[in-house]
Amino acid sequence: MKRLVINTLNRKSIIRKEIYGHFSEHLGRCIYEGVYVGENSGIPNENGMRRDVVDALREIRIPVLRWPGGCFADEYHWKDGIGPKDSRKKMINTNWGGVVEDNSFGTHEYMELCRQLGCESYINANVGSGTVQEMSEWVEYMTSSGKSPMSSLRAENGHPDPWHPRFLGVGNENWGCGGNMKPDFYANEFRRYSTFARNYDPSHPLFRIACGPNGGDSEWMETLLRTLAPIGNLSSGLVNGISMHYYTIPGSWEHKQSATDFTVADYYETLRKAYDIEGLIRLHSAIMDRYDPQKSLGLIVDEWGTWFAVEPGTNPGFLYQQNTMRDAMVAGISLNIFNKHSDRVVMANLAQLVNVLQSVILTDGDRMLRTPTWHVFDLYKEHQDCTLLDSYMENEEAGPEGMRIPMLSESCSLSPDGSVNVTLVNASAEKEEEVRILPVEFRVSGVEGRILTDSLSAKNTFDAPDAVHSETLADVSAEDGSVTVKLPPCSVVNLKLH
Ligand code: AHR
Repeated sequence: MKRLVINTLNRKSIIRKEIYGHFSEHLGRCIYEGVYVGENSGIPNENGMRRDVVDALREIRIPVLRWPGGCFADEYHWKDGIGPKDSRKKMINTNWGGVVEDNSFGTHEYMELCRQLGCESYINANVGSGTVQEMSEWVEYMTSSGKSPMSSLRAENGHPDPWHPRFLGVGNENWGCGGNMKPDFYANEFRRYSTFARNYDPSHPLFRIACGPNGGDSEWMETLLRTLAPIGNLSSGLVNGISMHYYTIPGSWEHKQSATDFTVADYYETLRKAYDIEGLIRLHSAIMDRYDPQKSLGLIVDEWGTWFAVEPGTNPGFLYQQNTMRDAMVAGISLNIFNKHSDRVVMANLAQLVNVLQSVILTDGDRMLRTPTWHVFDLYKEHQDCTLLDSYMENEEAGPEGMRIPMLSESCSLSPDGSVNVTLVNASAEKEEEVRILPVEFRVSGVEGRILTDSLSAKNTFDAPDAVHSETLADVSAEDGSVTVKLPPCSVVNLKLH
């Protein structure tokens, strides 16, 4: 038996709802088919957006959606994606499979999607192959309410009212696919591009996000911050956040593992690598702390998740992978880590929404399934905008030599109604564990919870879309001010303590 102590007197940062964000790119079947099927599709839709997908995303309270990329963002020219669809310019999607992009999903369609989802928008603009003028005019097009050339164009295209996009990414992976830039060059480019992305509506200022490091590239972070400093002078204007990308890739980049066919050692290797994200957050937070001790800048983990080999027989450029309980474990562990670092991590976006990498939804024509990862987001949604509570878990290690991981992972938060949310992961492949929860200065009058558990490689398929699903937790009891819960191997649990 392990004990988990929750100190309800030690209230920490707000777990911003955006930590539960998602990422959508013009990549494979993410946008086209995954989300957008067009008004004339036989698949039930509202203004071209699949109803089944929108409903499933609303269920997990998707808070923010990043678009249009990814690497695609630095090749995207927004003016090609507005106006009558039959006259929109086509392009080759050189990053992802060399397919023709017909631009039928553009700014208006993305904003409509966010409206239907009830989520914030996060536009990632083009620095790599776009101009300052292009970005500046996109911002004017979306946000200007006065009489201006771009607001008139927007009205001509059927949307007289401005939108209020909240987040603006200034380039993506500009150390790589976004232009292969050096950090000092990018940092100066960021200053220039961000200057001309005006706040047309001061009551809705843009939250500007600079392209941060690839994994552990501390030189990039250091150079960027040095060039942007002093942050205090800049934080309200030019920069509000720095991005960071980290993918969990067991095996190697050249020889990726199957998403579904893996050994127990592969399982532990994957979770070992998932845990590495915490070291990266600590590394970059420490650098940010030196330049920005007030923590006015956010660390934005706007791409994270597993990256396996594509499903056999599918286009290698489409990055379509299945999703198992192993992915669910990665999600549960990662989200607990983000919650615990919510003093600095203010947004995270799982890559990617539908049909790409660690998706919460997969589609096949008119069929749709919720992946095990979707169920983790469902279990964790109660943390959104709650206050992180200090917690201490007795723990032990699991896994073979060289791939040891903490067996248990947790995070706890206080809801505005006074209830306490606890999310727990038992990552052991074989061992059940009992956890006794001891909240300090909190009288437990009741407890309820749900559990997601199955074999390591269990998955949902289009023939059995609900094979993996969460259930009401039976093995939980409250007595004498504490709560006892049994965690089977390979399980994720949420609890609400009243
Ligand atoms: O998510 C797939 C790709 O991974 C993104 O386009 C890019 O930003 C990253 O390298």
